[in-house]
Amino acid sequence: MTPSMPAQRPASPFFSSGPCSKRPGWSRDNLSKACLGRSHRSAEGKAKLGEVISRSRSILGIPEDYRLGIVPASDTGAVEMALWSLLGARGVDVLAWESFGKGWYSDAAKQLKLEDLRLIEADYGELPDLSQVDCDRDVVFTWNGTTSGVRVPDGDWIAAARDGLTICDATSAAFAMDLPWEKLDVVTWSWQKVLGGEAAHGMLALGPRAVDRLESYTPPWPLPKIFRMTSGGKLNEGIFKGATINTPSMLCVEDALDSLRWAHSLGGLSGLIARSEANLEVIADWVSVSNWADFLASDPETRSSTSVCLKIVDPWFTAMAEDERAQTVKSMTRSLASEGIAYDIEGYRDAPAGLRIWGGATVESEDLARLPPWLDWAYGQVKATAAAA
Ligand SMILES: Cc1ncc(COP(=O)(O)O)c(C=O)c1O
Repeated sequence: MTPSMPAQRPASPFFSSGPCSKRPGWSRDNLSKACLGRSHRSAEGKAKLGEVISRSRSILGIPEDYRLGIVPASDTGAVEMALWSLLGARGVDVLAWESFGKGWYSDAAKQLKLEDLRLIEADYGELPDLSQVDCDRDVVFTWNGTTSGVRVPDGDWIAAARDGLTICDATSAAFAMDLPWEKLDVVTWSWQKVLGGEAAHGMLALGPRAVDRLESYTPPWPLPKIFRMTSGGKLNEGIFKGATINTPSMLCVEDALDSLRWAHSLGGLSGLIARSEANLEVIADWVSVSNWADFLASDPETRSSTSVCLKIVDPWFTAMAEDERAQTVKSMTRSLASEGIAYDIEGYRDAPAGLRIWGGATVESEDLARLPPWLDWAYGQVKATAAAA
């Protein structure tokens, strides 16, 4: 029997894991003070760029001796800038438990061709064995694996006294999870995730030990101009004060400022984390009683509060071939999108077929609370249609 439609709809259907929902109350009018048609190197332009840095630093509680800069090409740009500039000085451990970590490993192995390289990996839904990590080597890892919804629970596995650098892709964690800055030598993120900003710009935080490496080590490979952070062996400090390497979008900058002001109005990081954790709880409450959905993350300690990934455990579904499972999820997500209930909640293309629902701070818990009956509806609908065929 085809299930009937739930009575209540989420007020906002934006549950994508990137670009993520704009903040509640966002309006294009908030961009009217953007520094448009002016040089980004004008006093006004530089002040706006500097304000993004100072507001981000203050909300995230970044230590004073860390540099923070706006860099090209979003989070990928920030991570690759770090990998290309820093790696090769010593052995490297790369942790990979989903698509993005695997991508960083591939960069290290196939592009940089590092010889002393170890891959510490786990399958979708699991974390690798963190006790295998050797912090006297450089360590590259993702704080929150956006495509599996598995995050590291804390930084306890990172040695406080270490010879290697920790390079952390925190793009779906920053502004939603506590980051132990002293354990992280390099941290990257973008604007379009938890803050609901616009894409194309990356943020790169460098601790003092990362700066020492930059100033004492020259990698053997060529560095494109947009990756270069030093000049004559010294750090280019301007990058970390808002003198970007190349031209940023001042419209995106204004939007980033809008989201940072909003974050401040919520009480800063603790307010943002509380919103995201509440969102995870709403989904967890439903999962605990669902007879067809479960978290992809097997250990509750590792469940992401931002990219909440769900697998389908109903034997009817698990008995299907892989491409049939993918088609079934597509049918579900298509009907949810065409009803205007939820956009973009299909799991990532490389992940096991399932759902991925964004729970970062820009998503309202009230909207998430209205989603589960619709998930039941969409699942019931595809199952009933298959039974009737
Ligand atoms: C963990 C992680 N790393 C890297 C990326 C790539 O980010 P961007 O598209 O901002 O370069 C993403 C995007 O979802 C991500 O989730």
